[in-house]
Amino acid sequence: MSDTLNNPEKTPEHIAIIMDGNGRWASERSLPRVAGHRQGVQALRRAVRAASDLGVKYLTIYSFSSENWSRPEAEIDHLFGLLRRFVSQDVAELHSSDIRIRIIGERSALKEDIVELIEYCEQLTSDNKGMTLVVAFNYGSRQELASAVQSIAERVARGELQPDEINTETIASHISTSDIPDPDLLIRTSGEQRLSNFLLWQCAYTEFVFVNEHWPDFNRDILVRAIETYANRDRRFGGLKAKAL
Ligand code: FPP
Repeated sequence: MSDTLNNPEKTPEHIAIIMDGNGRWASERSLPRVAGHRQGVQALRRAVRAASDLGVKYLTIYSFSSENWSRPEAEIDHLFGLLRRFVSQDVAELHSSDIRIRIIGERSALKEDIVELIEYCEQLTSDNKGMTLVVAFNYGSRQELASAVQSIAERVARGELQPDEINTETIASHISTSDIPDPDLLIRTSGEQRLSNFLLWQCAYTEFVFVNEHWPDFNRDILVRAIETYANRDRRFGGLKAKAL
């Protein structure tokens, strides 16, 4: 293990991942796109195990975005099928590894059985003390912020809050990650360098690491490399370097 990984101070507390490139991985092998998503689930299992072993406290994954509804219906059905299977096959093992599961995103548009599965996983694992796996499913950051603004406006309308009392903490406490620290490190696979409506508020000071490998090839070595890149960054949060003070 490298020095970075022996030093818990250098390990990010919260890693967020945009799992990109399943389709490209499949087309490079002349396989249907869904084969890439299936391999993507294997990569997800490797990522969860590695992050938990390395002492990461929160791992947030972008598994279905609000914009993914524009994909062909068959692909959407397949992604929902993978979620169902992931939950039914993996939840017991995640639970026995003391992993807590949280699902963020808009639930009202989801089928009832999916909502029930989500609630089951969250309840079953709610007292676990190991890593928290946050699954962003039917998630869009702009939608999340719009709904936070709506809740705040309702509180103002009821007279519970004055407009001039609204500050950054008010907003942070009305979004779905209100009890989760902001990501320290965001990894996006497949060489793309954008946020795609993922955790826009939460990533204000997050370090971004973009890797060229497609998501189905993701493994512990790639995760360790990303953590090492992160550990060598100089995080200043808008201030000055410690030695310049
Ligand atoms: C991006 O690849 C990936 C997704 C839109 C879905 C991510 C889903 C998984 C890894 C598997 C499902 C896991 C759960 C828990 C549901 P892409 O299709 O955009 O790839 P491309 O950009 O190469 O076309």
